[in-house]
Amino acid sequence: MADQYTCETPGCNAPASLQCPTCIKIGIKGSFFCTQECFKGSWKSHKIIHSLARGESTDGKTEENNEYTPWPSYKFSGVLRPFPKSAKRTVPAHIERPDYADHPNGYSLSEMSVKKSSQIKVLDDEEIEGMHVSCKLGREVLDEAARVCDVGVTTDEIDRIVHEACIERECYPSPLNYYEFPKSCCTSVNEVICHGIPDMRPLKDGDICNVDITVFHRGFHGDLNETFFVGNVSQKHKKLVQVTYECLSKAIELVKPGEKYREIGNVIQKHAHAHGYSVVRSYCGHGIHRLFHTAPNVPHYAKNKAIGVMKPGHCFTIEPMISEGTWRDETWPDDWTAVTADGLWSAQFEQTLLVNETGCEILTRRRNATGLPHFMDNL
Ligand code: MF3
Ligand code: CO
Ligand code: CO
Repeated sequence: MADQYTCETPGCNAPASLQCPTCIKIGIKGSFFCTQECFKGSWKSHKIIHSLARGESTDGKTEENNEYTPWPSYKFSGVLRPFPKSAKRTVPAHIERPDYADHPNGYSLSEMSVKKSSQIKVLDDEEIEGMHVSCKLGREVLDEAARVCDVGVTTDEIDRIVHEACIERECYPSPLNYYEFPKSCCTSVNEVICHGIPDMRPLKDGDICNVDITVFHRGFHGDLNETFFVGNVSQKHKKLVQVTYECLSKAIELVKPGEKYREIGNVIQKHAHAHGYSVVRSYCGHGIHRLFHTAPNVPHYAKNKAIGVMKPGHCFTIEPMISEGTWRDETWPDDWTAVTADGLWSAQFEQTLLVNETGCEILTRRRNATGLPHFMDNL
């Protein structure tokens, strides 16, 4: 059956089958309108994506001064700007969905019912098998995103590939509608720390782009992310990405039964500070299994007061965000995009871990010969 499309006109939401002919010519997918009238009414804002996709500047204006200005009075900390977004994607009904997928505000009632508790679930054998499968599938989806992440590709196109890769594997893309997050993955470019929303901005030579994938498969979430190089990245930014990867690796080495969750941040901050970088404090690692975000809370900064001791059967993420300048973040008026307060760049890596008898298993590990992240493939 053909995909169900929704009209591109903001607020219209009618079913749509008329595709923009210019978009077809350029190869932009998913630009559908319900009627000729809606298409004409949206033309002035819609046509911007044609020049963006062609990599042209729009009316001589640069990316940093583009025509799409949803929040005219917001003072951006850096040079990155939001771009128009495609319509919400749908997931076929035969794929199991988390509770928030169909909540009007994307609330997860199952998460909220245990929100106050610091009790960490010990997974049984069946649940451990569920996590093995969801995390392996999440890794496959991230590897698909890595293949397409390149100069000139929009983050919306990455999101489309991710969405389709999820569906092919009978996964619901966990971010979609989670507290109203509008897309199927997070794409966080340059000064974006995390939770960037995929949009029509074509990636530029020298960008760094984190893609954060979470999939929900038969009741279990698997969560991972990597930062990718886009074309030729400066030595300065390559080092930021390398050190961020090392922060995660050193933290994982610490994980074993009896270790305190609060120790993880000490290891990460020590390594980040040794290289002159800072550690983001507003976003933490988290327990994950049948729930997307639950106990334990896992701060990445030193001297934190995280509750809990690791035990076999605990499942959680470590996902340090390391910044070139300040550790302070702010959020764009879209209520999701977290950026550095000084506009300098930030990188991140994430794995989902299962504590076992001797240490931990990296459930979302890369399953190639080296196990190393994508950015190291062509160094
Ligand atoms: N995957 C992110 C994490 O590592 C969470 C994204 S929530 C979303 O915890 F709604 F932004 F997708
Ligand atoms: Co996570
Ligand atoms: Co994640």
